[in-house]
Amino acid sequence: MKNIAVIARKGGSGKTTVAVNLAIAAHRRGYAVQLADTDPQGSSAEVLKARKGEGPAVLQTTGEALHAARNTANTEANLRILDTPAAAEDSIGHAIALAQVSVLVVRPTFLDLAATLQTAQILRRLRRPGLILLNQAPVPRGGIEPPAVKRALEALRLMQLPVLPMILRSRAAYQTSLALGCSVEELGAGPAADEIAELWDYLERFALGSRRSTAAA
Ligand SMILES: Nc1ncnc2c1ncn2[C@@H]1O[C@H](COP(=O)(O)OP(=O)(O)O)[C@@H](O)[C@H]1O
Ligand SMILES: [Mg+2]
Repeated sequence: MKNIAVIARKGGSGKTTVAVNLAIAAHRRGYAVQLADTDPQGSSAEVLKARKGEGPAVLQTTGEALHAARNTANTEANLRILDTPAAAEDSIGHAIALAQVSVLVVRPTFLDLAATLQTAQILRRLRRPGLILLNQAPVPRGGIEPPAVKRALEALRLMQLPVLPMILRSRAAYQTSLALGCSVEELGAGPAADEIAELWDYLERFALGSRRSTAAA
């Protein structure tokens, strides 16, 4: 069983959006996926309840419970995506410890970047691998990256964690899809679907081991 944790110390950065899209992406590609919602708010579980038809299995649980049961095979799943709360170390530390890789979701805002520094420190303390994903970034105009994104990328390079090469932009598709219990890929072809496909392909190679990371540090 492989685990991918989606983490951030900041609420609203997009953990649930990324976790649900990743879980459905893997399900569509043939994995037996469990989406473990360790956030007491239960947003991931809520989203998948709205889903029509089959999809990833959902488990509402805690990081602590999953970590305690890590050596007991009580699920059919071969891949688990962990959605986590915007909480302190002891709560998300279990998810981080379980995961082959943690995806640290961050918006290009000052407060998100400041919180990312803290999250990156938790990963370093626990000696676990993490990748930074920029989310809700404004769309480039005329091929030019908006200044907020440029500044964020510069700040993120100081965190000593690899930054993923793809960026999730602020797009209505991310909001509409969640309300329907589906992923942006299931909504149909488009830039958001391309972003998630690229993210999934990268994580599959990095976290599930068919190729090593090439993310720029
Ligand atoms: N890339 C994106 N584009 C547009 N809206 C987004 C994007 N990512 C997240 N959102 C929206 O931002 C809000 C917070 O996202 P959510 O995934 O619930 O964050 P978290 O789980 O980190 O609190 C939701 O309304 C969600 O639809
Ligand atoms: Mg959430």
